[in-house]
This record gives sequence, C-alpha cells and structure tokens, in this order.
Amino acid sequence: AASDISTRLGTGERDGALITALAATVGTPFWLYDAARIESQIARLRGFDTIRYAQKASSNLDLLRVMRRNGVKIDAVSNGEITRALAAGYQAGGDDLVFTADIFDRPTLERVAELGIPVNCGSPDMIDQIAAVSPGHRIWLRVNPGFGHGHSNKTNTGGPFSKHGIWYEQLPELGPRIKAAGLELVGLHMHIGSGVDYGHLERVGDAMIEAYRALGLPVQAVSAGGGLSVPYHDGGSEIDTEHYVKQWDSARLAIQQHQSAPVEMEIEPGRFLVAAAGCLVAEVRAVKQVAERYFVVVDAGFNDLARPAMYGSYHRIGFVDAAGVPVTGAAHPVAVAGPLCESGDVFTQGDGGVVEFRDLPLPAVGDFCVFADAGAYGAAMSSNYNSRPLIPEVVIDGGEVRLARRRQTMDELLALETGETLSLGDAA
Ligand code: LLP
Repeated sequence: AASDISTRLGTGERDGALITALAATVGTPFWLYDAARIESQIARLRGFDTIRYAQKASSNLDLLRVMRRNGVKIDAVSNGEITRALAAGYQAGGDDLVFTADIFDRPTLERVAELGIPVNCGSPDMIDQIAAVSPGHRIWLRVNPGFGHGHSNKTNTGGPFSKHGIWYEQLPELGPRIKAAGLELVGLHMHIGSGVDYGHLERVGDAMIEAYRALGLPVQAVSAGGGLSVPYHDGGSEIDTEHYVKQWDSARLAIQQHQSAPVEMEIEPGRFLVAAAGCLVAEVRAVKQVAERYFVVVDAGFNDLARPAMYGSYHRIGFVDAAGVPVTGAAHPVAVAGPLCESGDVFTQGDGGVVEFRDLPLPAVGDFCVFADAGAYGAAMSSNYNSRPLIPEVVIDGGEVRLARRRQTMDELLALETGETLSLGDAA
C-alpha cells in the first residue's frame, strides 16, 4: 500500500497514515522514497545493455544500494560521488563506475588514476591530463553534438552556448591524439540536457553515428546519456521507452556493422529512475489570507526543495490532515511557501519567479503538505541556507521502512567553524 506514494499522493489513506506516523517519529520536514517505484522504472530501461544511474539526482547510500542490487551501474561527477559509490559497495577498476566531468580537480585526477576508474572526458584538456598521469587509462568522450534541450535553459547541456562536452567539430583531430597518447577508448557519450523533449532525444542516435565517423576510432560502447523527462503535471505523458530502446539499438547496430566489432549501449538516467519515487513532506504552520487569496506556509523551504525557486519547476501538491486523511473540500487560490527570509521561497512559482496560485483545498495548521515527484534533485540540491540543518531521508522498501539519513544537527554545522590561524609565511 505504501508503493507509488507520490503518484497516489493525497488519495491513499494508508499513505496518509504512514505520513503522520513518520512525522511523529522523525519530525518534519522529511524526504520519503519508495524503492519499489525505483525498481519499476529500472524495468522500463532493461533493453539497454547497461543502466548507469546519474547519482547526482539523489545520492543517498540507501538508494545507491537499491540500484546496486538491481544491477544498475553508477555515474559519479565528483570525488565525493566516487566515495559514495564505493561506500555503497560498487568496485573501482571495472566498469561499475564512470567519472563524468568537464574538468579534473587535482585530487580527483589523482584518485581516478590510482583506482583505475574510467573517465568520461568533457574537454580535450581532460584527455591530455589523464594521459599524462595514467598511460593506457580507459576513457569515454562526452560529445556536444551541436544541439541540446532541457526543461529549463539551465538544464540544456548541448549546442554552442553550453560549457559541456567536447564540441563535435573537434573530433577528427582527437582520434589521432587519443591513439598517440596510448589511451584506451571505451566509448562515446552524449547527454544533451535534462528534462529533454522527445523530439530532441530522438536526434541523438544519428548524432552518435556521425560523431563515431568523425572520430575514426573503434568503440566498445555508446552512451545515450540521461535527460529522459517525467510527467510532473497531472495527465503529463510518459516516455515511450520501448521506442527509445529500439532507436538506440539501430544506432548501436549501425556502428557495430561499420567496425565489425561488438558495441554495447548504455543509458545514464537520474530523474527518470528516482523522481516519482520520492516526495517531500512538510507541516503546515500558517494559513494566511492575503487580499482574496491564500498563502499556506510550511516548515520546508527552498533550502530543502530548490527546484521551484531555481527553475520555476512544477511539483504537484497535496495535503493530508493530522489523522492521515487527505484534505478535500472547496478549492481556493493557494500559494504554498516556506519559512525562509526571502520572497522567492515559494513552491508555486513560474520561471522568472512570478508567484502562482493553484486551486487547492485549504489545509489547517498541523496538516501535512506533500510535494510529489521530488525524488530527483530534491535532497541532492538542499543547502544549509538560513542555518537550517539537512532534513531526514526515509526509504520504504517492501515491508521495511529505513531512516536512510537522520536529521543534521546545528552542532555538526558549527563544528566546521574552527577559526584556527593559518600560517602562510610571507604571503600573509
Ligand atoms: N548524465 C550527465 C552527464 C548529466 O549531467 C546528467 C544531469 C545526467 C546524466 C542525468 O540527467 P537526468 O536523467 O536526471 O535528466 N537540477 C536539475 C537537473 C540537472 C541535471 C544535471 N545533469 C533539475 O532539478 O531539474
């Protein structure tokens, strides 16, 4: 009954009972994930040889272990994400882990070289830097195919205005450079954005074939990147993953036939796997009338869920009363806001920060507010703004409910602020 919690949001009484029980146990606000919902999304992508989870979407160790037991591999974009993957039981050295970035910071370059973690190079400089410290290293090339798309300009990662990837026109000169450097080319990778519409996604397979021809080296694999969108709005359409798999399979085959050596295909989703599996639960602390409309103010802010403030992103909202029963009744124009001392701390806003009022039933103080489809880029993008500690994460997994992360304490935050004197010699 606890499955699919965010899509049945506010309509399932057992979900409501679970929310009130958790609020009493861990306090509000908190994140809640459903492992079964993640697993049903994984199943939809099984046509790919490898599913590689872009853990930046939600990187709790508990969720990484759920991925691992389902045979899902891992993309890491920082030294910290490498540490997380290893802590969750993934192995360095094989192909469990790939490090994807546009630069190496110095400690990460040292670490991937030492552990033999394949790197997905998003700049020619990365190719030279890894070749210098780790001869024969396994690399991928992340290619910017000259076009991109995203649910927001801030999530478009292709085209001439994007800092990401290697510009496709530079591939012909990179083939010989990789060969001369003695690196092992694993494959080509394209990630053109996040929350991509299907029309743009469909173009990537052909762009991959062209990139392969331009590079002129054999590949072991191609990666479709991530970017698959999910329906955030009621009635939004689902991606036809079967069609998508078929399309990639034909790109894969074309390359395989050309080089007469096997090519595997990977996909690297973040959002698609975890968005609908998670929600944010907060408590309603004030219901204010402002002119002829209402502000419902809850105890979670954009330091917890940043997406509406950052991109004008839409999350469905439902209320559950203190007894666990979904709040129904006449709809009123309602904006839902948080406690931060900043006027942009509103969960119902469009791109550009204009506050939007939705037709919602009015909750009472003490009711719970549930933000749906918050499993991707929710907890992962939280901050300590306004000195607010990070909030707990709870995972429902079959019959088990786990505290995947406890609430951070103020003592933990203050412990970083040591104020010790630095000795800088003459530079001081
Ligand atoms: N691969 C690479 C190289 C990426 O940069 C990303 C996302 C992904 C895969 C996964 O993309 P997805 O399947 O989740 O769309 N914070 C934004 C999304 C930023 C995405 C960053 N890169 C949001 O809340 O919408």
